[in-house]
This record gives sequence, structure tokens and C-alpha cells, in this order.
Amino acid sequence: MELTHLISKYQSPDTTQNSFFISFEGIEGSGKSTQITNAETFLKANGFEVHRFREPGGTVFGEKLREAILHSESPLDPMSECHLFLSSRAQLLKEKVLPLLSKKNTVVLLDRYIDSTLVYQGIARKLGFEKVLTLHQFAPLNILPNLTLYLQIDLKTSMERQLKRGQEKDYFESETSQFYESLIQGHDDLVHLFPQRIALIDAKKDIDSVTEQIQNILKSRLGMSS
Ligand code: TYD
Repeated sequence: MELTHLISKYQSPDTTQNSFFISFEGIEGSGKSTQITNAETFLKANGFEVHRFREPGGTVFGEKLREAILHSESPLDPMSECHLFLSSRAQLLKEKVLPLLSKKNTVVLLDRYIDSTLVYQGIARKLGFEKVLTLHQFAPLNILPNLTLYLQIDLKTSMERQLKRGQEKDYFESETSQFYESLIQGHDDLVHLFPQRIALIDAKKDIDSVTEQIQNILKSRLGMSS
């Protein structure tokens, strides 16, 4: 199958120095920010040097792109949108993520990465997984995380949590429920496509229980004894 062939071109960073690249994924309202903060605290308490970045963003150039995308006044062409995310990502990998991963006992946490592009641009914007994966096959974009934590919630929970938050909606938050349904389906497809890398977290549960699920996975995947 074409997708498997494409995926075989990707690599995850070497972990022999006890350094790890971890991404967090989930639709609006999945609690990513809170859980990344909790994971950061947990990993630091266990002796890791931890660095956290968000996508799009994480570099001066990336933050400018973030502003351009999330506050775009007109609808972007899907391919244009996709390239903006990739441009931010390539810069972040080159400037921050890859140099940090060459150090010992270091964890880089990313708030969104390739799976966001696969579902938002690939599925919801209909470019397809194949095109998005093809665009990632050249360095520095051909790096997959060692572990991805997918915080899964359903549409109802996402809508309720977004309503509670009540902030002004940005470019993607104004999308229809059909758009969100396709994102949820897209993430489920990714869990099947990358069964080793992506760990599914039940993020409908309360904060403490989600934190516990994540800590258990971190302990086993990072070989932590505590
Ligand atoms: P953000 O405010 O960071 O959303 P959240 O707090 O939910 O993570 O905005 C990032 C938005 O950009 C989010 O709606 C998802 C979208 N996005 C893509 O469409 N493709 C991508 O590759 C990335 C990284 C994000």
C-alpha cells in the first residue's frame, strides 16, 4: 500500500541518550494545554530536561506564521494553508527540536505536530493523507515523534468545553460540526495507521484521571522506574 511505503521513509529520533520527542494531539477542548503542563512537571520531577513548543509557532518566524494562519481574513487555499504549517514546522525542527534532541536526558514536548496536518489539512480540508505525507518526506520534516499522546474526546464534549471557555473563535474554531466530526474520524484512522507511535488517551474523563493515564504511558515508554 502506498501509505505504508511513504511511512517507511520516516524516522524517529534515536533514544540511546535517553532523550525523547513527544507530541500531543487532540481537537479543541481536549485539554492538551493542561495535560502538557502536567507532563512537563512530571518529567522534570523525574530528572529530565524538558522543552515545550507549540505548533504552529515555537520560533520567531513560526509565531508570525501562526498569526497569519489563525487570523487570516480570507479562507486559505488548502495547499497554501498546508505549506504554512509545514514551513513553521521545518523551522521549529531545525532551530529547536533537533538540536535539543542531540542532548542527553532531554524531552521535547510539542503541542501538535504532523498528525494535526494529516487530519486538519489531509482529512478535513480534503488534501488526503498521501499528499500530506509526501510533503513531509524531505528533511527536516521526515521525523516522527517517539511517542504521540492523542487526547480523544467526542464532538459533544468538544462543543460543551468550547462554549464554557467562551473566547472569541479563531480561524478553525469557527468551523462546522461536520468539520469536527471529520477530525475525530481522521484521528481514529491515524491510530490504526501508526499503532506503535500513537497512544490513545480517554480525555473525556476528569483532569486527574487523564493525567494518570498519561503518566502511566510515559513511565512505560520512557523506561521510568518511579
Ligand atoms: P491553537 O489555538 O494552538 O489550537 P489548540 O489550542 O486547540 O491546539 O491553534 C492551532 C490551530 O491550528 C488548531 O485549530 C489546529 C490547527 N492546525 C492545523 O490545522 N494544522 C496543523 O498542522 C497544525 C499544527 C495546527
